[in-house]
Amino acid sequence: MRERWGSKLTFIIVSVGSAAGLGNIWRFPYLVGTNGGGAFLLPYILLLFLLGIPLLMLEFGLGQKMQRGAVDAFSKIKAKWGGIGFGALLVGFVVSTYYTVIMAWTLLYAWYATGLQWGSDPTSFFNNALQVGTPGVITAIVPSVVIALLLVWTVVFFSVWKGVKAIGRITKVVVLVPVAILLLLLVQGLFLPNAWEGIAYYITPNFHALLNIQVWMAALGQIFFSLSVGFGIMIAYASYQDRKSDITKNAVIIALSDAFIAIISGFVVFSTLGFMAAKQGVPVEELAHSGPSLVFMVFPQALNLMPYATFFAVIFFAMLFMLGLSSQISMTEAIITSFADRMHKWNKQLLTFFVCAVTFAIGLIYATDSGLFILDIVDHFVNYGLILVGLLEVLVIGWIFGAERLRTFIDNCSEWHVGRHYNTLIRFIAPALIIILLINQLLADTPLGNIVGHYLGIESIFAPYGDYSTSLLLLFGWSVLAAIIVASILFGILQHPKPRRKKARGTTRKKPPAFARKKI
Ligand code: ALA
Repeated sequence: MRERWGSKLTFIIVSVGSAAGLGNIWRFPYLVGTNGGGAFLLPYILLLFLLGIPLLMLEFGLGQKMQRGAVDAFSKIKAKWGGIGFGALLVGFVVSTYYTVIMAWTLLYAWYATGLQWGSDPTSFFNNALQVGTPGVITAIVPSVVIALLLVWTVVFFSVWKGVKAIGRITKVVVLVPVAILLLLLVQGLFLPNAWEGIAYYITPNFHALLNIQVWMAALGQIFFSLSVGFGIMIAYASYQDRKSDITKNAVIIALSDAFIAIISGFVVFSTLGFMAAKQGVPVEELAHSGPSLVFMVFPQALNLMPYATFFAVIFFAMLFMLGLSSQISMTEAIITSFADRMHKWNKQLLTFFVCAVTFAIGLIYATDSGLFILDIVDHFVNYGLILVGLLEVLVIGWIFGAERLRTFIDNCSEWHVGRHYNTLIRFIAPALIIILLINQLLADTPLGNIVGHYLGIESIFAPYGDYSTSLLLLFGWSVLAAIIVASILFGILQHPKPRRKKARGTTRKKPPAFARKKI
């Protein structure tokens, strides 16, 4: 008998816990900042409804129908499609290797926050604490990050090893407490002097940005990352639901809660940036453009200037850690679910230990003096994997499994019916949108952008990611992506359809004679 979550509410909370994570507080604000502030919000909200919610429903529907994790859910359609599920797990695995390192930083920062140890120069403090060196050149490993990373993995292991019921109990705490902290920080942020200048930058829509395809791509990547779609997580989580559980309502509630947490985080971060920009006499854009280090370099600087700085600093980083934990638990559980689906004889706790240990070991690469750069590159390239998995999901469900078949299943379980428009969305609109954005990203990331620009008579859109002086890092990013793709294809090819049991001659079951069919 497959494990169950225990209650409808538990499923909603664990899924919100998976969706809402570092993606909402660490990633979302810096993407808003680097994509022109309010310019980012419009594509983000449009894509949430157009792709995010339908894809979440697809993953819930698939997991719930097949009662299997990502790999077997797809191989039940046809053995080789198991490769898509495997690809999803690999993406989740790669994200886990660096996600836990960011969690390790939050843990260290929660500790540093007790004494506001970053002093008046959080940027230098960050660089010193992580011993940030030269991009692409590894010369040392940072002991404090290694210890914090080990601690993170210990917590993840003990959260996952007892199975989904225990995950449900732990997640309730690590979701509800951070949300309460976030709301407290929101109230505090809104009352800061000049907070509204930051907020104006955050929410003023820029309709021109709708013409910038890069902003759309960033929004799409964020939707996938934040909703935990394309990692196989939501398939695994839904597989522990009863077959008849509601899907549509759950997907809408979970996606909107996730967006709500991201948007509130934006208010917290930008109100604080508005306050700080005024104090330092610099424009908000300048602070908002700092990228992935925004919450570690810029935010502590702002915290310094606030009343009760220590208190707010500690709860801010503790909140980040807890939100990250519920997402990391889900990424690890998604991998274990698929393993456990196949390796019945294996002890699930041993499997959990094995998965945690391997991910920890690989994550050590980000605990080096070049770790920050490697992390930035891998985060960029793994997005391709996430979006490719999403594309294959809609194609296989839309055209092979049958969009109508899945929709009927979803509608039969759900109180809110989606109707046939869902089929059009899954078969045509979603793949078209994803392909356009993927091609555009490829043009931006490769010299193909030069060639296409030349033929179209437009300026080239080729802009290699980051300002890294070494192309070694870019090569590493491409290699990680290539490894995910090749391994998934190989996995798919090596899957053999389950042999149909042949009926032995002469053993065909015959209808029993009438007397034997009598009711007793
Ligand atoms: N969905 C998780 C997050 O946003 C991975 O952090």
